[in-house]
Amino acid sequence: MNRKYRRPLIAGNWKMNLTPSETKVFMSRFRELLPKGRNNDVAICVPAVCIPAAVHAMRESRVSIGAENCNANPAGAYTGEISASMLLDAGCKYVILGHSERRAMGETDQEIHQKLLTVLDAGMTPILCCGESLEQREVGVTEEWISMQLKYALQGLDPRDVRRLVIAYEPIWAIGTGKTATPAQAQEVCAQIRLLIRKLFDARTARAAVILYGGSMNEKNAAELLSQPDVDGGLIGGASLIPEKLAKIVETANELE
Ligand code: PGA
Repeated sequence: MNRKYRRPLIAGNWKMNLTPSETKVFMSRFRELLPKGRNNDVAICVPAVCIPAAVHAMRESRVSIGAENCNANPAGAYTGEISASMLLDAGCKYVILGHSERRAMGETDQEIHQKLLTVLDAGMTPILCCGESLEQREVGVTEEWISMQLKYALQGLDPRDVRRLVIAYEPIWAIGTGKTATPAQAQEVCAQIRLLIRKLFDARTARAAVILYGGSMNEKNAAELLSQPDVDGGLIGGASLIPEKLAKIVETANELE
């Protein structure tokens, strides 16, 4: 983490877990445990039906609530979909986009690009995910793959908008597997992402980009991962479902220089 240029972010990703009633219980416990230090931002991205309960429970706290996806269209005949303006009105500040689990369900780079524009336009912060599979890592194409995903998502963006977003590097082989990337692996790719932003935009934008690591981050390995100079926080799945674990990770981030 480099606090001089960037404010670290610890973000939870609940995926398809916890009901609205369970959200209330989680949030009241998490509020009790939340460390006092304010050295980093904290967000919890929850299933759409849990957003109202989460926003209500976290009012007047420093925890922001986010969504896990949104539709690229402003409104219309898209049965079952949720728009950026609905999420904003419900109190969301962040929206996860391009998670590998959604890409695996068929979400394309083109759709992710459109969603990114929609979320930025609504004034929320996208958490744009990228990451390679185990096969891609083994054949040595990690950097090319991630560059391609990011170039597609960020095409035509104004550097000012790029400075408003968060990028999450999430190697697919580390998600939900307990196989965390080593701190050196996480640092290597996060530094490559920063270099790419510098090439595509400019040095100021690269310095300002908040780049998270995600993939089996927990309260035990967080300190080592978050100590890397280009890792500005974490996107946390499994461990974000347990208030004690998430609070411990926030505390760890708070304590690091
Ligand atoms: P995990 O998930 O922490 O359970 O590996 C991370 C993510 O998918 O965002």
